[in-house]
Amino acid sequence: MPETNNKPAPETHRLTDRFNRQITYLRISVTDRCDLRCVYCMSEDMKFVPRSQLLTLEELYRVAKSFVEMGVNKIRITGGEPLTRRGIMQLFQALGRLPGLNDLTLTTNGTQLTRYAQALKTAGVTRINISLDTLQADRFHEMTRVGDIQRTLNGIDAALEAGFKRLKINTVILKDRNHDEVVDLVRFAEARGMDISFIEEMPLGVISDHDRQQVFYSSDQVLQDIQQYYETIPTTETTGGPARYYRLNGSQSRVGFISPHSHNFCEHCNRVRLTAEGRLLLCLGQEHSMDLRRVVRANPLDEAPLRQAIIDAMEIKPKGHEFDLSSQPVLFRHMNVTGG
Ligand code: GTP
Ligand code: 5AD
Ligand code: SF4
Repeated sequence: MPETNNKPAPETHRLTDRFNRQITYLRISVTDRCDLRCVYCMSEDMKFVPRSQLLTLEELYRVAKSFVEMGVNKIRITGGEPLTRRGIMQLFQALGRLPGLNDLTLTTNGTQLTRYAQALKTAGVTRINISLDTLQADRFHEMTRVGDIQRTLNGIDAALEAGFKRLKINTVILKDRNHDEVVDLVRFAEARGMDISFIEEMPLGVISDHDRQQVFYSSDQVLQDIQQYYETIPTTETTGGPARYYRLNGSQSRVGFISPHSHNFCEHCNRVRLTAEGRLLLCLGQEHSMDLRRVVRANPLDEAPLRQAIIDAMEIKPKGHEFDLSSQPVLFRHMNVTGG
């Protein structure tokens, strides 16, 4: 991984798609593997990509650097569980030194944070989103199939101690599984000065655990539940992500809603995703993609073809997703492939 470089990013080409949306946010999935098996994310018997097919850490860095040189200012590292990838701290350290990258963020299930939180902060990670769907140990075990809630709670404490600019809880709400914990989870986040986002489940991949239509619990219902106990103030604040935010009266915490079903946000989409195999996905809910691994490997010393491939990919970014809970998933890709 390269040495420190404090020069500003050279201004080259800005990334704009056919619908005049500027691409400034790259999500990088560094592994599709995970130490949990959340029921909405994975099926029970998952097949993972052989490690030999993953982009190396150096290749991930090359792709990230090209994007930043073309105007991307926010990168989110996702998985699977990103902190299970061997040597991952080297990538964070290198990205943390990339000129032009203002926001280096991570989405994690929190199980490894007791080990890594301080090093992530030192590397320059600004914000972390941590998944937590319930505060009840038995439910946590059921919803993750294998997890121990205490590890995630300890991870959250470690992240709080490390002093990140912002920490957020991500909660996927499923009717009759955890919908009765909405207010408890808001209290948990608020007591720790954290934000919380409630996410509507998206139909990615075939799962056997439940019928996605039956467990649908809309963001509007979640908001109503919260309003029984809190005064909420809508804000136009954004993290550059898809969440709509409310402030809780008298509190630093924000409550966000990610609602692909009830409030589509494709019109404002500013992001693309890189899978761990080096496939650039132009939309979470569509299959349009560009194989960047082939380009990177065919041109080990020349970044021009990689940049051109990225520019070309903008031409195939679709207008939006077509998630439909009432039909079978059209996408067989599970969420762990993109990390959301
Ligand atoms: P910040 O706004 O930076 O805090 O991040 P985020 O909320 O965009 O990222 P995170 O990784 O925490 O993802 C939270 C949820 O948002 C996940 O369920 C993602 O699948 C979902 N999400 C993120 N981007 C998109 C998008 O472009 N389309 C859809 N449908 N969902 C998205
Ligand atoms: N629908 C919505 N959110 C999901 N996540 C994982 N699978 C799904 C799904 N099918 C969430 C995780 C994590 C974030 C990256 O995506 O809970 O917080
Ligand atoms: Fe792992 Fe996140 Fe998927 Fe849960 S949602 S199985 S923690 S990748």
